[in-house]
Amino acid sequence: MRPVIMPIYGTRPEAIKMAPIVKALEESELFDSTVVVTGQHREMLDQVNELFGIEPDVDLKIMRPNQSLSGIMTRTIDGLDELFKQEKPAAVIVQGDTTTSTAGAIAAFYHGIPVVHAEAGLRSFDIFSPFPEEANRKMTSQVTSLHLAPTSVSKKNLLTENIAEKDIVVTGNSVIDALLTTVEKEVPFSDPQLEELAASGRRVLLVTTHRRENQGGAMEGVGRALKRIAEAEPEMTIVLPAHKNPVVREAVLPSLEGLDNVVVTEPLAYGEFTRMLSLAHVVLTDSGGVQEEAPSLGKPVLVMRENTERPEAVSAGTVVLIGTDENRIVDEVHRLLHDEGHYSSMANAVNPYGDGRAAERTVAAIAELLGCGQRVDEFNQ
Ligand code: UD1
Ligand code: UDP
Repeated sequence: MRPVIMPIYGTRPEAIKMAPIVKALEESELFDSTVVVTGQHREMLDQVNELFGIEPDVDLKIMRPNQSLSGIMTRTIDGLDELFKQEKPAAVIVQGDTTTSTAGAIAAFYHGIPVVHAEAGLRSFDIFSPFPEEANRKMTSQVTSLHLAPTSVSKKNLLTENIAEKDIVVTGNSVIDALLTTVEKEVPFSDPQLEELAASGRRVLLVTTHRRENQGGAMEGVGRALKRIAEAEPEMTIVLPAHKNPVVREAVLPSLEGLDNVVVTEPLAYGEFTRMLSLAHVVLTDSGGVQEEAPSLGKPVLVMRENTERPEAVSAGTVVLIGTDENRIVDEVHRLLHDEGHYSSMANAVNPYGDGRAAERTVAAIAELLGCGQRVDEFNQ
C-alpha cells in the first residue's frame, strides 16, 4: 500500500495552484492521493477542477451566501474531523492563506497528521491586511511540518520566525506551473464580446477586485475610478471579470452601467483569463495570484492594496502598489497609458515566483518528509 497524500482546498486560487500538485501526485509512483474540497467557493472552484479534469473524492460543500469567517472555519474543521475519523492520510497538503487552508491545517494537526504547507512564508507584516489572510498563513505555519516556500524571500521570513531550515524547501509557486501549461493553449473566449475585442486589437485594461479589506467604500471608489477611466479613454476597453461575491458586485458594478467600453463578465475559466491576461495592456488588481502571473507575461500591474506579501515583483519593477484612492487609480492608469517610458520600464517579463517545476519539487519534498525519497534542486530566481 502506498502512502495516501490528501490535498485539501476550497477556493479558486487554491484550486489553480493545487491542480499541478494534484496532477504530479497522480503521476507519482510513490503515493496515492485523496482529493478533498471544502467547497468554500462553489462555481469558481468547480470551474477550475473541470478545466484541469480533477474530480474530488470528497466535497464538504460548506459554502453559504455571505458566509462568515467563523462559519467557514467551523464547517471545515467539523467536516474534516469526521473524515479523519474514517481515513487517516500520511500527510495533508494545504495551499496559501484562505480560511479553508488554515482550517484544514488545524484539523489535520489535531489528528496528528503531518501538514505540508504550499506557498508558505508570505508575510505582509500587518495582521489586518490582507484580512484575514496574513493571520491565516501565520497560524498555518505554527502547525506545519513541511513548509514549501515559493521564493528565497518567503524562506527568509520563515527563518526569522525560527522555523527550522531543514523543514523548508524553496519550490517556486505552482501558479507558474499552472500558468505556463494553460496560457500556451490559447483557448477561445466563450463570450463573443471578448473574441471580438481580441480581434479588434484595442488596448485592454484588465481589472479584478475582491479583497475583504477593500469591500464597501474603497470598492465603490474603485467603481467610480473605472467609470472615469472609461470616459477619459474611449480608445481602450476595460474588462472586468466580476467575482461571484455579491458584496463585490454591489459595490463596483453600479458605476459601470451604460459604458460602451466596459465589458463586465462572469468569472472567466482559467484558460480564458490567462489568454485575456496575455492580451491586456495594463492590469489593475487586488488579487494575490494575478500579481504573480502578470509579471511572467510582462504586463505592468497596478495593485490596489496598501501593502503586499509578494514584494518580489515590486522589486523587479513590474508591480506598483497604489492603494484604493480613486484619484490615485485614475492617475496611475493614465500615466501608464500615456507615458511610454514609464510603461516600458514596467513591462518586463520577469519570473520571480517560479519556473514551472514547483509541483515536481513539492512531491519530492513530501517523499523526503515521509522517508521514501529526497528533495530535488530548489527554485533559485
Ligand atoms: C476567499 C478567500 C480569499 C481569496 C479569495 C479568492 C478567505 C477568508 N478568503 O475570499 O483569501 O483571496 O477567496 O477569490 O478564505 N461566492 C459564490 N460563488 C463562488 C464563490 C463565492 O457565490 O464560487 C460568494 C458566496 O456568497 C460567498 C461569498 O462569495 O459567501 C464570499 O466567499 P468567501 O470565500 O467567503 O470570500 P472571498 O472573498 O471569495
Ligand atoms: N482568475 C480566473 N478567472 C477570473 C479571474 C481570475 O481564473 O475571472 C484566476 C487568476 O488567473 C488567478 C486566480 O484566479 O490565478 C486569482 O484568484 P483570486 O483573485 O480570486 O484570489 P487571490 O489570488 O487573490 O487569492
